[in-house]
Amino acid sequence: MTQQDDATHEQDMTLTNRQGHPITNNQNLRTVGNRGPATLENYDFLEKMSHFDRERVPERVVHARGAGAHGYFETYGVLGNEPISKYTRAKVFQDKGKKTPVFVRFSTVIHGGHSPETLRDPRGFAVKFYTEDGNWDLVGNNLKIFFIRDALKFPDMIHAFKPDPITNIQNVERFFDFCASSPETFHMVTFVYSPWGIPANYRMMQGSGVNTYKWVNSEGKAVLVKYHWEPLQGIKNLTQKEAEEIQQKNFNHATQDLYDAIERGDFPEWELHVQIMEDGSHPELDFDPLDDTKLWPNDQFPWYPVGKMVLNKNPEDYFAEVEQATFGTGVLVDGLDFSDDKMLQGRTFSYSDTQRHRVGANYLQLPINAPKKRVATNQHGGQMMYKRDLAPGQNPHINYEPSMLNGLKEATQAGKEYTPYIEGNLVRESIDRQSNTKQAGETYRNFEQWEREELLTNLIRDLSVCHEDIQNAMIVLAQEADEEYGRLLKEGLHNAKKDSSASKPLGNINGDQAPQDAMNKGHDAEPY
Ligand code: HEM
Repeated sequence: MTQQDDATHEQDMTLTNRQGHPITNNQNLRTVGNRGPATLENYDFLEKMSHFDRERVPERVVHARGAGAHGYFETYGVLGNEPISKYTRAKVFQDKGKKTPVFVRFSTVIHGGHSPETLRDPRGFAVKFYTEDGNWDLVGNNLKIFFIRDALKFPDMIHAFKPDPITNIQNVERFFDFCASSPETFHMVTFVYSPWGIPANYRMMQGSGVNTYKWVNSEGKAVLVKYHWEPLQGIKNLTQKEAEEIQQKNFNHATQDLYDAIERGDFPEWELHVQIMEDGSHPELDFDPLDDTKLWPNDQFPWYPVGKMVLNKNPEDYFAEVEQATFGTGVLVDGLDFSDDKMLQGRTFSYSDTQRHRVGANYLQLPINAPKKRVATNQHGGQMMYKRDLAPGQNPHINYEPSMLNGLKEATQAGKEYTPYIEGNLVRESIDRQSNTKQAGETYRNFEQWEREELLTNLIRDLSVCHEDIQNAMIVLAQEADEEYGRLLKEGLHNAKKDSSASKPLGNINGDQAPQDAMNKGHDAEPY
């Protein structure tokens, strides 16, 4: 370092306020005498304190606790033996080897901002692709299905799963009250109460878009598509006891695992797979392809690898990049489209609505959320707007369209527009082919023995503190799903009743009794 560099460095390190004024005393308030009182013209103090007072933005209404990382997605350019362009014209998937930058945020769902990462809960898996056509967000979870199939029920579901409005304590009776009264939840409950409800960390879990989307090709033809992320690190889940042991020592273990792996250059990777189905209602299936409580059976709808994601850079600032990151199901690019999945449509309203409240009207101007391509809109104003989205050479006086005075012009359509024909009465009705418990039975039978034991131990522990009507309704669902599942749940609850010490008035969603037979470390699992 030269003397001049040294001087510049010293100058660069000078503490200033947000107006650029150097701060010469950061230890003492300006006071009348050294014992006070303080004076109100203390601009530096008032600025420092009032910014601190506003350091938090509202936490996400769900998925409050998360960790993020940057990386890239590399397309394989094919689907099986065919060029991927046969199914989608989305540029992000064309041209084998092409890389697209991504930002990923993993999360837990129900618990608050600094809650333990060992809790039983689905995990969020949200990916922002900064494509050449603008951003594409794939907002998924680790599990491939969801609790409910109609967006209207989401606020009720979340209220039941979040803490009691009076005690502020999470209460399994409220959780099971909602689930027992909403039989479509049973498949998801079966996953969440098994070891699949506590992934060992974020690197060793799958991801899934859960909802059904569409792909559109250049002829304007669509197929239904589901997305799944497969971790190349393997899959590992925890028993309740293992999770509790980790939690005693470290309640940030998943964030730390991700951060440390990337810092040491051990970059986590996931392969993106898709399942596709011809567009349509598929009356030959015993489930509706738009029902997000159902898996698409792998033997009928094979998984095709279409690309790989590598996470190779930690955020430089947690708040700027992770807390202020905003993902939404409406954020699609040309060649990707919505299906009529009622959950997907409800979600698409909710994300940007909450983000305008949580981050602010101009949340898309923040570097983490802005596309990496040029943006040119006629949007103007709003809190925290700091720049106009002008195109080079645009007449800056023109912030409307149409105009003959060199304003922004509409884009040309990239391929043939996809124009599905829709007809029907407006109704408030559930879908046909609900089949609420069949796949839960298949999932139960596909579990390994230790997974079934964990599932039953966890369910019996938490259900044993619930009202008998709730227990009975859950037993009926388990019996419908699988004879053994129903019988063992019934017997377990019967035995728990005999041992009245097992019941307590308010349970915790994780329970507090560890299963006795659990082993001490994480368990490798086969892709499900
Ligand atoms: C109608 C159903 C749903 C509604 C209304 C809904 C709504 C929301 C809302 C309001 C947020 C907070 C967003 C923010 O503050 O930035 C959120 C976050 C999230 N949701 Fe949903 N959600 C629904 C279903 C689902 C499903 C089925 C999945 C899984 C595929 C999912 C995955 C996520 C993820 C991963 C996040 C966190 C995104 C992030 O990391 O910032 N949600 N959801």
